[in-house]
Amino acid sequence: MAEEASPKVWFITGCSSGFGRRLVSSALARGDRVIATARKVEDIKVAPSPNLRVLQLDVTAGFEILKAKLDEAAKIWGQIDVVVNNAGVGYPALLEEGGSSLLEKQFRTNVFGLLDVTNAALPHLRASKSGTVVIVGSRSAYRTEIPGLGPYSASKAAAHTIGETLSVELAPFSIKVLIVAPGAFRTEGIYGQTFFTSNPIPAYDDLREITIQRFSSVAGSQKGDPDKAMEVVVDVVRGEGKAKGRPWPLYLALGDDADANIRQRSMNLLKHMDQWGDVIKSVNFDE
Ligand SMILES: NC(=O)c1ccc[n+]([C@@H]2O[C@H](COP(=O)([O-])OP(=O)(O)OC[C@H]3O[C@@H](n4cnc5c(N)ncnc54)[C@H](OP(=O)(O)O)[C@@H]3O)[C@@H](O)[C@H]2O)c1
Repeated sequence: MAEEASPKVWFITGCSSGFGRRLVSSALARGDRVIATARKVEDIKVAPSPNLRVLQLDVTAGFEILKAKLDEAAKIWGQIDVVVNNAGVGYPALLEEGGSSLLEKQFRTNVFGLLDVTNAALPHLRASKSGTVVIVGSRSAYRTEIPGLGPYSASKAAAHTIGETLSVELAPFSIKVLIVAPGAFRTEGIYGQTFFTSNPIPAYDDLREITIQRFSSVAGSQKGDPDKAMEVVVDVVRGEGKAKGRPWPLYLALGDDADANIRQRSMNLLKHMDQWGDVIKSVNFDE
């Protein structure tokens, strides 16, 4: 049960499986209230609770529909404190084969849906001059050198960027942003999409085959425990447990793989700055 923080109202997308389903249970176990949403409400398999309401919601439904859903949700307990953009898909494809149409499909859920849900919630958060926007991003935003993950990684990089900018734009309203960057966690569906093979370019035959085989070996072998991950998210949002006494983190990397990937990306960028610094800084107008 809660140690110090007062009960919060959570609004969570993608609660039919994976992180979302576990986050619902973790938040309820702390005494918080949860509006759990999914494309099909019958897929939300969480034990009934007086602190739980379920709502049908597809994050790609478009802003006007989502606004009506968020307005409806805000009436349930008179407030929304935490909006969690968890719903996500991954469409594995080689970038040239998938092209912009696959990229658009990928962004529809992970980026445009995220922004529509957030924007539909913000009037309620702004009205209370408080609240938290959680963005479930990915370490894939930083580990981008994996063939086949381009559309997904790009969508998560965009999600992180949106979160970073939002954190500044929302600070005057005392609304906080948390960008969660998990490594590989053993959830149900995110690795379940079939590799895109509808536009095969023969030059990629070998790479595509190797990539498909590599992807098919991931599911079931991820080291991350999604229950533990969601407990940490609740700790951070509530400022208790593992987060107690720590400053608010804009980022929450989760998993030792996420730790390694983000460190490596940071070091790569710093190395570039060190090696090319004189050139990088040589292009201003002459004074
Ligand atoms: N597991 C990992 O290793 C990992 C790592 C980094 C980041 N993530 C991120 O974590 C989030 C959750 O993924 P997961 O691993 O828990 O996978 P998951 O088990 O596949 O869960 C994804 C959830 O998103 C929902 N969803 C998909 N499209 C939706 C839409 N248009 N509207 C509403 N809900 C939609 C799915 O609902 P349906 O049942 O209706 O399809 C499902 O509930 C995603 O954003 C994912 O990118 C996961």
